[in-house]
Amino acid sequence: MMRVLIVKDELEGGRVAFDQIKGAIATGSLHVLGLATGSTPLSLYKEIRNSDLDFSNIISVNLDEYVGLGEEDAQSYRYFMKENLFNDKPFKESYVPNGLIGEEACDEYNQILEEHPIDLQILGLGRNGHIGFNEPGTSFESETHKVQLTASTIEANKRFFERAEDVPTEAYSMGIASIMKAKSIILMSYGESKADAVQKMIQGEVTEEVPASILQNHKDVTIIIDEAAASKLKK
Ligand code: GLP
Repeated sequence: MMRVLIVKDELEGGRVAFDQIKGAIATGSLHVLGLATGSTPLSLYKEIRNSDLDFSNIISVNLDEYVGLGEEDAQSYRYFMKENLFNDKPFKESYVPNGLIGEEACDEYNQILEEHPIDLQILGLGRNGHIGFNEPGTSFESETHKVQLTASTIEANKRFFERAEDVPTEAYSMGIASIMKAKSIILMSYGESKADAVQKMIQGEVTEEVPASILQNHKDVTIIIDEAAASKLKK
C-alpha cells in the first residue's frame, strides 16, 4: 500500500520521515535502517543529527556506491554518509557496498543484506524514476549488481564533481528485489524535476521502464513529496 503525504517543503518532509523513524525506534521495530545518498535525504539526516535519538544499537545499510571510489574519496557515498550522518550519529555497524573491489562486492553485499534484513528503507527518486542506482530497464528480480549509469544520471550527479568526466560511469547498487524485501519504505522526492517520475511512480503502469513503479506492489510505502514534485499527479 502506498501512502502519499504532500508536505510544504523538504524541511517538513525531513521532519515527517524523522518522526516515522523515531516511532519505529520507540516501538522496538527498527533494527536495520536502509539509507540513501543524494540531496533528497539531507533534511532528514540533519533532523537525525540534531536529535538525541540513539542509533548505537541500529545497523545501517546503504543502497549504492560508485565503482572505483573508496571512503577517502570525497565523492564516494561512504564519505558522503560519514560527513552527513555517521560522524555525528554513529550506528552499531554501517554497511555500504565496497566500490574498491570487483563484482564480488555484490555477493558480499547480498550476504550482508541476508544477515541484516532491512526493517525500514529510505529512498530518493531519480529524474528517470530510478531508485538506488537501478536505472530504467533493470529487472524487478535484481539483487545487488553492477550498473552502468545512464547519461541522464551522470548529468544529474555531475554537480557533486569538479568536471562531468570525473563522474564514475559504473556503480554497485542494491537491486529492486533487495529494496522490495524491506519491511517498510519511505521515499522522499522534492522539486519540479521529479514531478514526471513521481506521477509515473504513483499513477503509471508498473513497469521496469519506471523502476520506482514497483513500489505500488509493496505493502508498506510512505511517499513524502512537496507541491512541486506532486504537480503532475492527476486528480
Ligand atoms: C542518485 C542516487 C539515488 C538518489 C538519486 C536522486 O542517483 N543513487 O539514490 O535517489 O540520485 O538524487 P537527488 O536526491 O540528489 O535528487
